[in-house]
Amino acid sequence: MRIFSGIQPTGRKHLGNYIGAIQTWVDGQALGEALYCIVDLHATTVAYEPADLRRYLYDTTAILLAAGLDPERCTLFRQSDVAEHSELCWLLCSVTAHGELNRMHQFKDKSAKQKDALVSAGLFLYPVLQAADILLYKADEVPVGDDQRQHIELARNIAERFNERFGPTLVVPRHRIPQVGARIMDLQSPDQKMSTTNPVETGTIYVLDEPKAIIKKIKSAVTDSGSEIALAEDKPGISNLLEIMAAIQKKTAAQLAQEFSGQRYGDLKVAVADTVVNYLTPVRERYLELRKDEQRLESVLQKGASKARVIARQTMTEVWRAMGLGTVRS
Ligand code: AMP
Ligand code: TRP
Repeated sequence: MRIFSGIQPTGRKHLGNYIGAIQTWVDGQALGEALYCIVDLHATTVAYEPADLRRYLYDTTAILLAAGLDPERCTLFRQSDVAEHSELCWLLCSVTAHGELNRMHQFKDKSAKQKDALVSAGLFLYPVLQAADILLYKADEVPVGDDQRQHIELARNIAERFNERFGPTLVVPRHRIPQVGARIMDLQSPDQKMSTTNPVETGTIYVLDEPKAIIKKIKSAVTDSGSEIALAEDKPGISNLLEIMAAIQKKTAAQLAQEFSGQRYGDLKVAVADTVVNYLTPVRERYLELRKDEQRLESVLQKGASKARVIARQTMTEVWRAMGLGTVRS
């Protein structure tokens, strides 16, 4: 089985990214041939600074290695090092409907936050590039958080349409969304997913936060009315804390709700803070070591790109042939 996933090198990675995606990437190394891509081309679809992008790229590489990605057991690479991603994106545009892209939630959300004149065509095509990432490697499985469900569905539709139109060429991928922790919510606004762009900084726990900051954020998390610890729709704050702890301890939130029944909100917060600190501290420590050596990070990415390119070129040869493009080769 081949596994592929991508992560943006924008901003800082948070607990939602870690539980919803990075953890499943690490586990994926034992399940099949895993390819993981830091998608810097996607990051150019919104305003950005070139020097920041390069820095964030190394930050993200170091976080992924600190989390447990092992370059001997997976292929970790930078999207812009493999030119075939952009090339396949263009070719897939011919089997993608404009209306389909207009319906993408992420496009609607991101474009709503910007003035019309500043919404780039790249932001609109973003999901096609994502489909190209996945289909280029003929991936069977794509581990992602819940917010990527629609994008993976689109990649499936594109692959199916391509195969119908040009003959069987691409593999139709399926998503792997974790049972627990696929949608970690903001600690201050538990009706919104945790994200780097949420307005209140204390609602988001960053992977590289110091233990003190983590404890403070969890202690000040918004809790719900009442005092009973339970998993319920009218208790989004408490439910989120249970979900975070459950994902880390590999339990279900319902199990934990039972364990904590009869205790106070404060007790739960202390336990969750402790769990998160123990979970992230070793990652932060390894990160600080790994981040110092940019040459090593660069060398990991280069080796990864060389391996990825071999698969990418093979798929492109098949795609060209199927689409009637390029010089005919025997
Ligand atoms: P990004 O940083 O946007 O590239 O996201 C990387 C991965 O993290 C994707 O697979 C997302 O689905 C996942 N993710 C982002 N936010 C959350 C969240 N709040 N809870 C769980 N997973 C998330
Ligand atoms: N759009 C994804 C996100 O925001 C990142 C991504 C790009 C991706 N290409 C991918 C995820 C391919 C899975 C597979 O998280």
